Amino acid sequence: MTGPVREQWLSRIGFVLAAAGSAVGLGNIWRFPYVLGEQGGAVFLLIYLVCIIFIGYPVMVTEISIGRITQRNPVGAFKALAPGTPWWIVGAIGVLTGFIILSFYSVIAGWSVSFIFKALTGFPVGAEAAGEFFVGHITGVAEPLIMHFIFMVITAGIIAAGVVKGIQRVVTYLMPALVVLMLVVILRSVTLPGAGEGIAFMFTPDFSVITIDTFLSAIGQAFFTLSLGMGAILTYGSYLSSKDDIPKSSLQVIFADTSIAILAGFAIFPAVFAIGLDPASGAGLAFITLPAVFAEMPAGEFFGFVFFLLLSIAALTSAISLLEVVAAYFIDEKGWTRKQAALLMGAIIFIVGIPPALHAGVLGDVTIIGMDMLDFYDFVSDSIMLPLGGVLTVIFAGHFWGMKALTDEANKGATGIKVGNWMAPFLKYIIPIGVFVVMVVGVLGRFGIELF
Ligand code: TRP
Repeated sequence: MTGPVREQWLSRIGFVLAAAGSAVGLGNIWRFPYVLGEQGGAVFLLIYLVCIIFIGYPVMVTEISIGRITQRNPVGAFKALAPGTPWWIVGAIGVLTGFIILSFYSVIAGWSVSFIFKALTGFPVGAEAAGEFFVGHITGVAEPLIMHFIFMVITAGIIAAGVVKGIQRVVTYLMPALVVLMLVVILRSVTLPGAGEGIAFMFTPDFSVITIDTFLSAIGQAFFTLSLGMGAILTYGSYLSSKDDIPKSSLQVIFADTSIAILAGFAIFPAVFAIGLDPASGAGLAFITLPAVFAEMPAGEFFGFVFFLLLSIAALTSAISLLEVVAAYFIDEKGWTRKQAALLMGAIIFIVGIPPALHAGVLGDVTIIGMDMLDFYDFVSDSIMLPLGGVLTVIFAGHFWGMKALTDEANKGATGIKVGNWMAPFLKYIIPIGVFVVMVVGVLGRFGIELF
């Protein structure tokens, strides 16, 4: 294949930062705390950690190994390992999923950008007023669209600049900044009077709320938060050299992602309890409950600003990994230049994101199978395409590419912990069956068919 020489990360840590940047996102700071709040606190945390270790770790090692050995985007990677077979379709599902996830991810990230500025002038007091404020924002037309546009322009700009000059450079600054901003919010939150209750909430199990849904949520969250199932980590792995340590890097990414999710809990729950609001307020936790908290907190304008800035940064370093999958496909397979791929695909994803951007406003009445346009995109990607991509990837690795080839690649360059035999039953049977069941039950549940 002709074309420019494929870029590589300047260091293993560059890869770890980029992959951690991909992993740490809205899933950690917006979604994890509210799911934890709804699903019984500590019980969910425990099940989630088990899923991260026994599903997240094997799948991550697999994706990175496939990416590194082939040095290709997801479609090219499957074509290289299984030429003349339909396995490339798994990569194609991944690229398509990238379009869909990024289109609505950018809409939510856009709200976060808007809230950076809204925080400065102060949020209304009380959960009800904060709820109206949020609805007022998302039912708008111009602002959600403009912020979605701006967020996509920044994302595409970074991808156009390249793997090293774009992605690696940006994460080198933004990831440490994110940690510092997070610590600022945590310090404020845990020193509020009554904060202890929030910490107790996170670590006190409430067994009464566990249902099959708790397990479904934990597995779904494990895939989403680690950016697995659509080839994002595979694509980042394709810029690694064979000297780099895959098991160690995977564990570092997982540690960073899990730590930030738990820290987000420390930033949010103590403050929510201190102000006396409901921790189980669902998807509105970050955009309704927290603004109400900032409205009553001393120097809440400043801390609200810091919180939404950090949420926007986390979203940006995730969004670039989604666009990179799409861009890498057009660069490797279609011979486009990086700039063409980033800008054209960024523009198309902006357009695809217009329906979810207007889901509560102009398109407020439009539903597909009973869901508004934002829920529909979210449902199709998170509940169908990601699990499908994840299951097919592990079946491919466990049964077709083979455990021997996978383990050899994963352990090449590994100096400490190596991938062991314990992974085989997970990749071959436990993960495909477990995740498939989750997917079917989840999808049927959406249509009102309860199996359990
Ligand atoms: N992991 C990110 C988050 O937690 C979202 C994300 C980025 C993602 N890239 C992905 C999810 C690829 C699935 C697949 O917010």
